[in-house]
Amino acid sequence: MKISDHLLFGGDYNPEQWMDEPGILDEDLRLMKKAGINVVSLGIFAWAEEEPEEGHYDLDWLEEIIGRLYQNGISTILATPSGARPRWLAEKYPEVLRVDAYGRRQKFGERENHCMTSPLYREKVRLIDRKLAERFGKNPAVILWHISNEYNGECHCPLCQDAFRKYVKNKYRTVDALNHAWWTKFWSHTYRSFDEVESPSPIGEGSVQGLSLDWRRYTSDQETDFMKAEISALREGGATQPVTTNMMYNFDGINYASMAEVVDVISWDSYPEWYGDDIFLEMEKHSFCHDYMRCLKDQSFLLMESCPGGTNWQPYSRLKEPGLLSNEGMNAISHGADSVQYFQIREGRGSFEKLHGALIDHTGRDDTRTFLEASRIGASLNALPELAGTFSSSRAALFYDIENRWALDLSAGPRNENNGYMDLLQDFYHAFRRAAVNVDVIDETHDLSGYKVVAAPMLYMFRADVEKRLRKFAEDGGTLILTFWSGLVDENDLLFLGDKPHGLTDAAGLRFGEIDTFPDHRRNCMVPASADPSAPGFCLRETSSFRYCELDHLDGAEPLMVYGKDFYRGRCAFTLNHFGKGRVYYLSTWPERGWLCDMVKELLREQDIESLVDDLPEKVAVSERQNTHSRYLFLQNFGESEKQIRLPASLRKTDSPKPVRIYTSGAHGMEPDCGQLPVDAAAPVEIAPMSTMILKIS
Ligand code: GLA
Ligand code: ZN
Repeated sequence: MKISDHLLFGGDYNPEQWMDEPGILDEDLRLMKKAGINVVSLGIFAWAEEEPEEGHYDLDWLEEIIGRLYQNGISTILATPSGARPRWLAEKYPEVLRVDAYGRRQKFGERENHCMTSPLYREKVRLIDRKLAERFGKNPAVILWHISNEYNGECHCPLCQDAFRKYVKNKYRTVDALNHAWWTKFWSHTYRSFDEVESPSPIGEGSVQGLSLDWRRYTSDQETDFMKAEISALREGGATQPVTTNMMYNFDGINYASMAEVVDVISWDSYPEWYGDDIFLEMEKHSFCHDYMRCLKDQSFLLMESCPGGTNWQPYSRLKEPGLLSNEGMNAISHGADSVQYFQIREGRGSFEKLHGALIDHTGRDDTRTFLEASRIGASLNALPELAGTFSSSRAALFYDIENRWALDLSAGPRNENNGYMDLLQDFYHAFRRAAVNVDVIDETHDLSGYKVVAAPMLYMFRADVEKRLRKFAEDGGTLILTFWSGLVDENDLLFLGDKPHGLTDAAGLRFGEIDTFPDHRRNCMVPASADPSAPGFCLRETSSFRYCELDHLDGAEPLMVYGKDFYRGRCAFTLNHFGKGRVYYLSTWPERGWLCDMVKELLREQDIESLVDDLPEKVAVSERQNTHSRYLFLQNFGESEKQIRLPASLRKTDSPKPVRIYTSGAHGMEPDCGQLPVDAAAPVEIAPMSTMILKIS
């Protein structure tokens, strides 16, 4: 759903920390307006001010602030405060405090650490949420509810143990079924009744992987269930606005695909680590997450938090060079965000986040480097309201499945020193992005229609009948890319009996034999299987291979590359099998990035997926959004020098000239509509260092 008819620009604002500073709100309003802020998130951690004592609510101050903001053109995203409870609540009802995996009850403190099962906590949260809804549920200033904050973590208290037992009982029905699914005869760990089930613990059970996997599922479902209860409380109180919750980067504690089903809008918090060596690749990791977030509901999402300055909880608070803040925000927009929001608007004076980057720092000035660059971003976003709700269309998809990740992480072997799942995904993602196409990031349950190329790296666990859908996808004419360590286990992490990849051996034209794994520094290599000059270029040169070497048995597939070393020299390493109307490629090992890029590019070309630009220069990213009448091509230069980009022939044709408008942004802000592109020109477009150019093609 489209939450606004313009792009949102703003961030977390904590006026409750400033109640005793007269005039601060007036000053903040002046500064926010100056920066082009049109939305703030309020009340995320304000429970102690909203309900200072049990049952005594004080929401007048909040109403006044929401009203003042609105009069100044600033809407509110209003939070439920369940992320951090007031002291009175924890003292009076200790059951709301979490118990860790060692069985220790936590003391009051910190945040996002409540028991998500406690009926008492749920009741207290319901009451405050309902009060907020009664007061603000129809207030036009409040455009969205921000449910809690970054749900995460687990609780091992007796209430949660009980809830977990109910969860597994409901799932397996009989204790025999549970014993079978969890393979508990191993080490004599058989359960005699559901009452004996306990959460995994470093001082208890840690080797029954089915138990650990179900515990993760339960924890994730319990967080989602807690959130559902919060949403019901808001609805009970009469709230009519849509709801969201802020998700996190690379977070493996929750199945966001399930959580996505109960919110109206996806939002997430992105904090790239700019202190590393390669800004471009760091941005690409967050682009991957943007694409994942967009695909959770297949609609535009919100960038709920990002850092305007140095991020104080990272090992180093690296400053952003001029233009980077703008490129970071525009990167989110280019991948489907309808907002750029910051943590935080005003920097606090004390406690943990006093040195966290903010729009307004302790000087209170409006001429700091951060304030000036952020204001330019505000102006740019406010100049492009039409981008709100535009969609991203991809013919290619990359699988990232959280349950597969859990299963890989929990499993002992075959490579315990970083199984590399996320790194391999990033390599594939990089290959798609370098081929200059939009790519969706989807999980095993996602619909595959509309795609022509699907890559499913290291899909160790097959669930939700994925093998059937992948087969059909290939049979109907798609290109499917599978890799080593695929189709080994079912959804309980039990190995399939028989040939693997399960259900896909005929589609892949091979079967799994053995797998060799080794440390990062060691290499094997892939060499061309034949000297056939008609083979695609990338299959004609040798390349290193890393970490995993699977020894597969050919059963109909054509070997394109074979191993070059070790006792398995000459065995297939990369194959093609024609299956139905489509093709299945199988990569038995982990190749170099450059080779993978060439491979993906070639397979996209085979399927006639047109690149968004010809020959993407180094350190330049490209993506596209569109609506029914226009396409918006985002070109982002993260490099230090000017780059030239050739648009594809379809945009350069002289016989069908297309009006193109150009917007550029960077350290000096966006200059809207700064020119008409000479549509017939073979001349490349020039893009300045550390800047974004948007081409609107109608
Ligand atoms: C998280 C939280 C915010 C804030 C920021 C700081 O994303 O949601 O409340 O603590 O981190 O980077
Ligand atoms: Zn608990």
